[in-house]
Amino acid sequence: MSRKKISIIGAGNVGATCAHWLAEKEIADIVMLDIVEGLAAGKALDLYEASPVARFDVKITGTCDYADTAESDIVIITSGIGRRPGMSRDDLLKTNAEIVASVTSSVVAQSPNAILIVVSNPLDVMTYVAGKVSGLPKNRVMGMAGILDTARYRSFIAEALNVSVCDISAMLLGGHGDDMVPLPRYTTVSGIPVTELLDQATLENIVDRARKGGIEIVNLLKTGSAFYAPAAAAAEMAESILKDKKRILPCCAWCDREYGAGGAFVGVPVILGANGVQKVIELQFTPQEKSLFAESLAHVNQMVTTVDKMI
Ligand code: LAC
Repeated sequence: MSRKKISIIGAGNVGATCAHWLAEKEIADIVMLDIVEGLAAGKALDLYEASPVARFDVKITGTCDYADTAESDIVIITSGIGRRPGMSRDDLLKTNAEIVASVTSSVVAQSPNAILIVVSNPLDVMTYVAGKVSGLPKNRVMGMAGILDTARYRSFIAEALNVSVCDISAMLLGGHGDDMVPLPRYTTVSGIPVTELLDQATLENIVDRARKGGIEIVNLLKTGSAFYAPAAAAAEMAESILKDKKRILPCCAWCDREYGAGGAFVGVPVILGANGVQKVIELQFTPQEKSLFAESLAHVNQMVTTVDKMI
């Protein structure tokens, strides 16, 4: 049996770091693609040359040619411009919609059966663009956001409690970042509700920091945005799919009747397996969560209306 194949579009910090995390998981051969001549080829070769030391047996190649991505099982789309200090994710809307639309059609022409994982921002809208342009069944198109947002939230909780990050389990809904709807009721520390371990003010501060986690990194880096955690999150999604693990993870997924979304890509808990999004899990909202989710959805839909005319 030949190995599975994952293509990563965009060999910038997110794409290259994602290749690194994926190589260590040894779940697929990896093709990195970038329009900048030599960038993907150079990073792929460098990563491959690390493999005898880091001990992973996968083929990693880099290219500018979409033909080399043919028959991919998964394609991770990281293309687009990133944020600079003072920019919101929404400032990236039009430029990245054009980029993601063009990348998606090139990808699907080569890999009509692939599962797409979108990482480009503004995330929920770019996932919509990939969904519309690809014409793929909606379960095969998804965006990476919730895992990143919960990872930030989980790491801050572990730090506050001085316990292992591995023991923090959390769920959230809604659009990426500023729009996220945290669910402290569904946050546990090795099974113990976090609300029994942290007071409300501390939890609120942690939620707020997680929400603004992206801009915190942008302001520190000054020349770009986060990449280790976003890339690790995308790799976790790919692993759950290729190994058919059926992990329950917060992802940007198509919701029709679910959550009364009426046809939108938005952050929700899903089961991720061999066919992509196997199921959207519907949680019961408190009135406050319901209104936060509605606000987040309205924000996503407003941006979708803008890009819909372009694609
Ligand atoms: C962040 C960007 C990648 O949240 O959206 O860091």
